[in-house]
Amino acid sequence: MSPTKKDLPPYTDYTFDMFIKSAGKDHAEITQFNEWRRQVLGADMYTFQIPHLGAQRPEVSVQRVSGDRLDLISLSSYNYLGYSYHPEVLAAAKEALDLYGLGATGSPVLNGTFRIHEVLEDKLIEFFGMPGYGVSLFSSGYGANIGVVSAYAHKGDVVVLDRLSHASLVDGAILSQATVKLFKHNDAEHLDRVLSRLDHKNLRILVCTEGVYSADGDTGHVKDIVRVSKKYGATVLVDEAHSLLIAGENGRGVSEEQGVLDEVDMIIATFSKSFGGVGGCLFAREELTNYVNWYARSRMFSCALDPAVTGGLIKALELAGGPDGKVKRERIKANADYLRSLLQGEVDIGNSHSWIIPVIFGDEHLYIPLSDYLQREGVDASLMSFPAVPKNQSRIRLFVTSEHTKAQLERGAEVILKAAEHFGFLLEN
Ligand SMILES: Cc1ncc(COP(=O)(O)O)c(C=O)c1O
Repeated sequence: MSPTKKDLPPYTDYTFDMFIKSAGKDHAEITQFNEWRRQVLGADMYTFQIPHLGAQRPEVSVQRVSGDRLDLISLSSYNYLGYSYHPEVLAAAKEALDLYGLGATGSPVLNGTFRIHEVLEDKLIEFFGMPGYGVSLFSSGYGANIGVVSAYAHKGDVVVLDRLSHASLVDGAILSQATVKLFKHNDAEHLDRVLSRLDHKNLRILVCTEGVYSADGDTGHVKDIVRVSKKYGATVLVDEAHSLLIAGENGRGVSEEQGVLDEVDMIIATFSKSFGGVGGCLFAREELTNYVNWYARSRMFSCALDPAVTGGLIKALELAGGPDGKVKRERIKANADYLRSLLQGEVDIGNSHSWIIPVIFGDEHLYIPLSDYLQREGVDASLMSFPAVPKNQSRIRLFVTSEHTKAQLERGAEVILKAAEHFGFLLEN
């Protein structure tokens, strides 16, 4: 029998937005949050921030709060191509560590730029094969988005976001103080209507979209969005966080796959996903990256990218740009198709076409018990709930990598289906 709402303890009635409203001088929301956290910990159901005891491989070991060690199939890491633990990537990072030391210890605009950062920039330009372009490096993908959007758009300008945009694009738009407009997810016709209502002859307009959307695993309609945006003279930013090195014949992302790479004005990459490291960048015409290097506050006022990680990123890029990348791109797509085939028709996997597969279970109340159940049954998965996704659209997000074996995917799917039966979200056939 699947648990009903009334069987579930009160602390399962939780959404992230419950404790974010400031509640006066006595910090009531902080006290209430900690009380809620203590209840979940007390019930040994706290699955958040669980320490991983080694690299993010397809099989990982974690330690629960109780001290129990669990061996899990990982379906929650962005390490799409396995470069975070690739021996050549690690050797390159160690070499850079010995040469440059632990941290950059300074803003990239001042003393924090090392030769190895310039090598990464050159390799990225070579990878995209677009002379005249430049790279602006950031120490995170989040920092890249908030920095780029707020350096480009200012008060009086307009930032137009897909309704499902990542928080970093939303935050960048807020920070910019520009007017923010939304268009329906992936809907170029609606974007057209939004743009037609703006004074596009005089305003600077930045339209933001993504290569692959991380809540649904669907692909951005980049080609259509570029076409409509250009009609109104708007600038287009594509966040390729979940698609660079994977989508497109050469791994240059969804913009390459849809044949519009040279029409996109700004590409955002994150190094925390298919590169297996950390950091992010803007790839754009050199005039623009020169400007962003100075005027993105998250770059100017933050320490430069870690030099050892930079060494590893250069090697990951080199591998991804050669035969290794080609094999891995084919394998991750085959793996994602295989996992989809194991789940399709049994659970609601939405409209995923990528290496991110949502399993939509709906009810927010199930978030905590389901997360706990999956871990105990042997799967490391990340769950998402309101307000990150609409109410009653809570989901398990499964991230497939090129490194999973069929047997690991089968074990993962078996646990997901067992959970779906237990919690009552198997589809009725
Ligand atoms: C679409 C998108 N953009 C940007 C980011 C931020 O990247 P990072 O985690 O490297 O800071 C993420 C993170 O998951 C993302 O999904």
